[in-house]
Amino acid sequence: MCGIIGYVGNKKASNILINGLLALEYRGYDSAGIATLENNEIKIMKDKGRVRNILDLDGYKELQGTYGIAHTRWATHGKPSKENSHPHMDNSNTFTVVHNGIIENYNELRSFLTDNGYTFYSQTDTEVIPNLIHYYFKKIDQEDTDYNNKTNSFENKTNVGNENNYKDKVLEAVVKATNDLKGSYAIEVISPLIPDTIIVARKDSPLVIGTKSDENYVASDIPALLTYTKDFYLLDDNEFAIITNDSISFYNKDLEKYTKEIKNIEWDASSAEKNGYDDFMLKEIFEQPNSVRETIGSRLKLNEACNFDDLEITSEYLKSINKIFIVACGTAMHAGLVGKVLLEKLCKIPVEVDIASEFRYRDPIIDDKTLCIYVSQSGETADTIAALKLAKSKCAKTLAISNVIGSSITREADYTIYTHAGPEIAVASTKAYTSQVVLFAILAIHFSELLGYDNTDITINPDGKTIKLYDIKKDILELPKKISMILEDTSLIKKFADEAYTQKDMFFLGRGVDQTVALEGSLKLKEISYIHSEAYASGELKHGPIALIENGIHVISILTDPSLAKKSISNIQEVITRGAKTMVITNQDLENTNFDYIYKIPETNPLISPILSVIPLQLLAYYISKNKGLDVDKPRNLAKSVTVE
Ligand code: M6R
Repeated sequence: MCGIIGYVGNKKASNILINGLLALEYRGYDSAGIATLENNEIKIMKDKGRVRNILDLDGYKELQGTYGIAHTRWATHGKPSKENSHPHMDNSNTFTVVHNGIIENYNELRSFLTDNGYTFYSQTDTEVIPNLIHYYFKKIDQEDTDYNNKTNSFENKTNVGNENNYKDKVLEAVVKATNDLKGSYAIEVISPLIPDTIIVARKDSPLVIGTKSDENYVASDIPALLTYTKDFYLLDDNEFAIITNDSISFYNKDLEKYTKEIKNIEWDASSAEKNGYDDFMLKEIFEQPNSVRETIGSRLKLNEACNFDDLEITSEYLKSINKIFIVACGTAMHAGLVGKVLLEKLCKIPVEVDIASEFRYRDPIIDDKTLCIYVSQSGETADTIAALKLAKSKCAKTLAISNVIGSSITREADYTIYTHAGPEIAVASTKAYTSQVVLFAILAIHFSELLGYDNTDITINPDGKTIKLYDIKKDILELPKKISMILEDTSLIKKFADEAYTQKDMFFLGRGVDQTVALEGSLKLKEISYIHSEAYASGELKHGPIALIENGIHVISILTDPSLAKKSISNIQEVITRGAKTMVITNQDLENTNFDYIYKIPETNPLISPILSVIPLQLLAYYISKNKGLDVDKPRNLAKSVTVE
């Protein structure tokens, strides 16, 4: 989705703005632009296409301004074009704005402004914002007793001095303009009236301010600024800030000034770089032994109760609830499907998993006896945040699982726990998924302990096999080592990818928890290789989809639960009989089979096996995408952080 950068300091702003935009490229975009101010004149360089194209635009090299704003646009209203690219200006060229989000009532506002003499030059929803600011600024300024003395200067766009007075008025105009906006926004505003100053505002779209002595930065996400600072202010909804090189003042909608706490973000700048890997996705796949280890952290020790000091959920509360919802989108939702299995098995509480965009509009049955868990790597996914607000309005308790400290979802939720995967840059989520699943496993054990099941025999599969929490703790602690073992030799996956990359369709099959991994493998493949694929519960195949199985089609089956192995093998035979080429990802010793490929992974408890079985599927999608010569990290049409619904 769109990205925002801003800089105010003493250095040449254009370099910093471009570097910031490059760091945001992973979010997905189709046009880019920057604006700086020098000699009381705003200079805008923008066009459709890549950020680097800006470097070749006439006048770029001459830009000398020491502050400015920048944007990458992911088209929503209006096709990718120079006119529709940000920054946008008002008709008098006084206010320049970049915007993330969607203004839902822009048609209404456009008509209102048109009736008041404004003209529009783009098809965007954003263009109403600078014009609304201008509309309110004029009104506010007119009410000022010495308006007439200033009016000429204002309309001539010169610096009229008395900057503080203008800062107050521009801020008031920004607040009034945002009061009229319906939808979501993170905006930056600059104007010749307030040199060396950026005004920012946010509602339902992320915005952070990175701070250093004598220079300040703005961005739509933290990794974009990690090379400059680790100290951040995280703007909340309906907050405004006036930023100069050496000051940041925060205001609410009533224009009351207040202070905010700085958050120190421990992420390492190098974690947002490729470090010798061809692509971020590959790097992130290989980081999984560490990201899983970090997420386990000090929460889980073999002979101790799990440590969730940061989570104030009590055993009384857990005993009082009768249902858990897990709500998320995409890969995070797939992690939630494993979470459901873990929580139901270990805690015996019914769990429903919902897609956030459906949950928010389907009037789910929720009350104060429901715990709603929201999973989001970015913590900024619009549908997930809206689904969380809905549950709160119905008196349910909400728990966020996120990878980004201070992200919007964590600020809305009653409780938050973090995965510690480090920044995930590639659009295709990999290490976030395995961290989410391992955190679900530890959370389920913790809840189970709170419910008093510490020493109970837990039946985990249909053959009646029982385990104790101790057994699963042991398996979790061994996961980082086992992930490393899988990553040591990827040759078989490469070989299968070399054969499969010309396919038009593929199938992923599994039973039980393996079916949830099939869904994730299929999503990965679609996202980055553009090959159509279907994921099915193996037993469901003959109820329809088997009609699609024909000679040569590639079918990947996941088989990690010994109690379901025989059934799954029969289902694989059904597709082989119809001409499918098969790869089976398994931790079982499958002898005398007619499968084309068997990819062996280390054995572990079936409840947490997705953390291992997903890795070959991530690699498969990656190698197929590489074979097809595609941009693995920035697949077409996709954005890393989906901040619009
Ligand atoms: O940031 P989130 O976890 O809320 O993102 C949810 C989905 O948009 C995300 O998982 C998406 O499906 C990924 N591109 C999958 O690889």
